[in-house]
Amino acid sequence: MTSPILVTGGTGTLGRQVVPRLRAAGSAVRVLSRNAHEAADGVEYVAGDLLKNEGIQAAVDGAETVVHCAGGRKGDDEAARNLVAAASRAGVRHLVYISVVGADRVPVVSSADRVMFGYFRMKLAAERVIADSGVPWTTLRAAQFHDLSLTVAEQMAKLPVIPVPAGVRFQPVDSGEVAARLVELALGAPAGLVPDMAGPQVHTMADLLREYLRSRGKRRLLVPVLLPGKAARAVRAGANLAPDRAVGHRTWEDFLAGRVLTDA
Ligand SMILES: NC(=O)c1ccc[n+]([C@@H]2O[C@H](COP(=O)([O-])OP(=O)(O)OC[C@H]3O[C@@H](n4cnc5c(N)ncnc54)[C@H](OP(=O)(O)O)[C@@H]3O)[C@@H](O)[C@H]2O)c1
Repeated sequence: MTSPILVTGGTGTLGRQVVPRLRAAGSAVRVLSRNAHEAADGVEYVAGDLLKNEGIQAAVDGAETVVHCAGGRKGDDEAARNLVAAASRAGVRHLVYISVVGADRVPVVSSADRVMFGYFRMKLAAERVIADSGVPWTTLRAAQFHDLSLTVAEQMAKLPVIPVPAGVRFQPVDSGEVAARLVELALGAPAGLVPDMAGPQVHTMADLLREYLRSRGKRRLLVPVLLPGKAARAVRAGANLAPDRAVGHRTWEDFLAGRVLTDA
C-alpha cells in the first residue's frame, strides 16, 4: 500500500481544497484535525492538536510527505516546532509549508506592529523552524486568500462607517488555485522556498470593500485612517504584494460573483 500524505489543517479553507486534489491525483490522504471525523472517500482522520503537542506522532508515522496547512492567528511557530519534531522522528521525506507573501519584508518591532502585523513575524518564524528542521522542505508564500478578504469585508460592513487603512493594498488570490499549486509541490521533490503566488490584480483595501459593497447592494461611508508603525509603513510600500508573481487567475470580482450566487 502507498503511504498516505498527511495534510494538517485538511479541514480548513485551504486544506479542504488540497485533500480532494491529492485524492484525484491517486494519493492516499490522512488529515490531522483537533476534532474527530469519520473516514470517508479514501481520507482517514487522526485527532491531534499541534499546539498542545497531542496526537501528532500518530498522524505523522507512516507518512512520507506532509502538507502543513494548519494555522491560526497565533502559535504557528510553536505548532511547526512540534510538527517537525514528530516528522524528524518519523523520517518524513518532504514537508510542504504554506506561508504568506511578505513574511520576510514586514518588520514587526513595536507593540503597534505586533498587534496589527504580528502574523507576518509568526509565519517567518514558522518558516525558519521548517527550513532548519533537517526534514527536506518546500515553502510557498501565498498572498491573502479571497475567502479572508470576504470575511474581513463582511465584518467591516457591519459598521455604518468603515475605517479603512489608508494606502494599504492587497493582491488576493483564489485559495483553490493555491491548493492546486501546493498539490503540485507536494507531489514533486523538495524545492526549498519557491516563487510567491499572488492574485491577478492589486487593489487598495478601499477598492476591495467598494467592490464587495457593490456586489451586495450595500452603501457605507469609508473613512481613511493612517495606521502607525514600521510594519504598516512597509505594507503601504507594498511589502505584502508580489506584482511580478501575479500568477493567480481568479479575480476578486469573479470570486464575489460566485459567492453571491451561492449565498443567494
Ligand atoms: N487565509 C489567508 O489569506 C492565507 C494567506 C496565506 C497563507 N495562509 C496560510 O494558509 C494556512 C491555512 O489557512 P486557512 O485560511 O485555510 O486557515 P483556516 O481556514 O482557519 O483553517 C485552519 C486549519 O488549521 C487547523 N488547526 C488550527 N489550529 C490547530 C491546532 N492547534 N492543531 C491542529 N490543527 C489546527 C484547523 O483544523 P481543525 O479546526 O479541524 O482542528 C483548520 O483545518 C495557514 O497556515 C495560513 O497562515 C493563509
